[in-house]
Amino acid sequence: MGKLSKDSCVGVIGAGTMGSGIAQLAASFGHKVIMYDANTAVLKQASEKLQKSLDGLVQKGKITEVVAKSTIANIHNASSFNEFAQCHLIIEAVIEEINVKQEIFKKLEQIITVDCVLATNTSSLSVTSIAASCSNAQRVVGIHFFNPATIMPLVEIVPGIATDKSVVSESRALIDTWNKTTVIVKDTPGFIVNRVARPFYGEAIRIYEEGIADFATIDWAMKEIGGFKMGPFELMDFIGNDINFKVTETVWTQLFYDNRYKPSLTQKRLYEAGFWGRKKSRGYYSYAEGSIMPEPNKDKVLGEEIFMRIIAMLINEAYDAWYLKIASKGDLDLAMTKGVNYPKGLIKWSEEIGLKKVMNKLLQLHGLYLEDRYRPSLLLQKLAQN
Ligand SMILES: NC(=O)c1ccc[n+]([C@@H]2O[C@H](COP(=O)([O-])OP(=O)(O)OC[C@H]3O[C@@H](n4cnc5c(N)ncnc54)[C@H](O)[C@@H]3O)[C@@H](O)[C@H]2O)c1
Repeated sequence: MGKLSKDSCVGVIGAGTMGSGIAQLAASFGHKVIMYDANTAVLKQASEKLQKSLDGLVQKGKITEVVAKSTIANIHNASSFNEFAQCHLIIEAVIEEINVKQEIFKKLEQIITVDCVLATNTSSLSVTSIAASCSNAQRVVGIHFFNPATIMPLVEIVPGIATDKSVVSESRALIDTWNKTTVIVKDTPGFIVNRVARPFYGEAIRIYEEGIADFATIDWAMKEIGGFKMGPFELMDFIGNDINFKVTETVWTQLFYDNRYKPSLTQKRLYEAGFWGRKKSRGYYSYAEGSIMPEPNKDKVLGEEIFMRIIAMLINEAYDAWYLKIASKGDLDLAMTKGVNYPKGLIKWSEEIGLKKVMNKLLQLHGLYLEDRYRPSLLLQKLAQN
């Protein structure tokens, strides 16, 4: 593959939430960007949004007017796929539908040069299956940005089974030049962040469903004792229960219905009711005008119990991902601090808490519920013994 560099022309397909952010990011680092969307109105809106966002940054003194102008000038809206012929890297950020993504890659292969790298920003689909639609699957890689792409520091680089090693290293090197923290992840459901973070939500809901504590108390415990910026229920309402529920459901089904990732009926009902969180003024909490947030029960013993149960489940996920070689120990900790703002990496955290204590908590839950959900990772078991 040809070397990707600061002079590389970057194509972006899909000008929605993610595509428009990725285009802005690449353009701000001096790349010529070709942006396309099947919906011309979205493409127009993306340009207007970009102008507004840059104007805001200039007003706040974060960038100069010269940088804003050059960023705008670097982005070219394409009216057809033929304009992608000049690209060295194309990042696809269209709707999360495998057949749509596959069709796009197949079509692009008729137009692009042999050296062009094809990347997908998919959050939940298999990079390998997207690549399988191409005659040259070696050039296809996952480059998974987080929302908003211009701000969130983490980018997960996901090689498919057939991806060429040089495509992985060149993509990573290029994205590193955009001031991002990159991690390499095996092509598995949820990659790092969307897999390892599942118990933060799932175990919190389970604690609520069992009547152990209410939303406010669980949120308080995770913030006060765990040091998380937001509690699980506040965060689910912020992300949107529609999105959060779908991610859980996808990870669970793609991991062949492993009980550890099982979605909850509580969140499914909120999803069905349209109680999607802040954007609908109602989720776990009410955000309607005049609403008063419920008070937590600030019982330290209860708080400690809640925190320990959730953190043990999170740590177990991180060790299992490490054990299954989904990512390296270092990348796992980087991903959780840079991708979802955890106060500490989970493996580092486990060493502070003590592996034996974490193991004992899991064994206690496993013994109590007799559910596979609480099975400790083999790696955690082995390391805790030493
Ligand atoms: N939103 C997030 O928080 C987030 C985070 C990381 C990754 N992702 C992933 O990024 C991708 C895009 O998500 P989004 O939130 O930006 O979606 P979005 O709905 O905001 O944008 C998708 C865009 O794709 C366009 N599109 C659909 N079919 C097309 C086609 N055939 N050709 C060209 N354009 C087409 C649509 O018109 C739309 O503008 C998805 O794969 C999603 O899983 C999303």
